Amino acid sequence: MERLQKILAQAGVASRRKCEELILSGSVEVNGEKVTTLGVKADPAVDAITVNGKPIKSEKKLYLMMNKVKGVITSAKDPQGRKIVSDFLPGIKERVYPVGRLDYDTEGLLLLTNDGEFANLLTHPSHHVPKTYLATVKGVPHGSALEQLQKGIQLEDGMTAPAEVEYHDVDTEKKEATISITIYEGRNRQVRRMFEAINHKVIRLKRIKFGDLGLQQLGRGKYRHLTPQEVKDLLAAARKTHKVHKK
Ligand code: URA
Repeated sequence: MERLQKILAQAGVASRRKCEELILSGSVEVNGEKVTTLGVKADPAVDAITVNGKPIKSEKKLYLMMNKVKGVITSAKDPQGRKIVSDFLPGIKERVYPVGRLDYDTEGLLLLTNDGEFANLLTHPSHHVPKTYLATVKGVPHGSALEQLQKGIQLEDGMTAPAEVEYHDVDTEKKEATISITIYEGRNRQVRRMFEAINHKVIRLKRIKFGDLGLQQLGRGKYRHLTPQEVKDLLAAARKTHKVHKK
């Protein structure tokens, strides 16, 4: 839900200030009811909003992917003044928001959209869209520890679902390993906590895939629009729901 004047301004009706005047002058209706005060909120995806009897244009739907860098927060604002993802979207005027979160120090594939339905579908816990990460950890985990992660491991918020886990690279000199892990859930700090549970601290974490979508050649800190086919494929992956995973 957003304030009506903000919705009108985002739909390109006029400036926010001018939209306030339109509301006060009785030109705006929400679901057939005239609104003449400024506190009213609405949801442009659900509510029918008109100005002088004409429906406002719905905002163009945007679907972006970004190769997020470390040290960026996936929120719309940060009271501490840290960098936020929209700082990396030059040329995008629409307000887009991240589909799920990546930690401040996690890098890699982040989807952004202004399509609430798309975002809900892809982040809903019953839709297990696989997400693949490369986790560089301190020490080299034993195969049996990785098997535990694969089968499911007890975290403080319950057992994790089965995951796919493989060695990607082992640096015996530095005593570090990079493990590829595909999870079908999206709990808070899940990958970091899974490795903590086998006593290996994650020192670098990068998401490299969301469903079948990979980062490909997208440079660090860069973004691009998804193709219509990529959007379709992500929706199809989400709609498959948990059936695939529970077989
Ligand atoms: N798992 C984590 O621990 N952090 C992320 O940012 C994403 C998945």
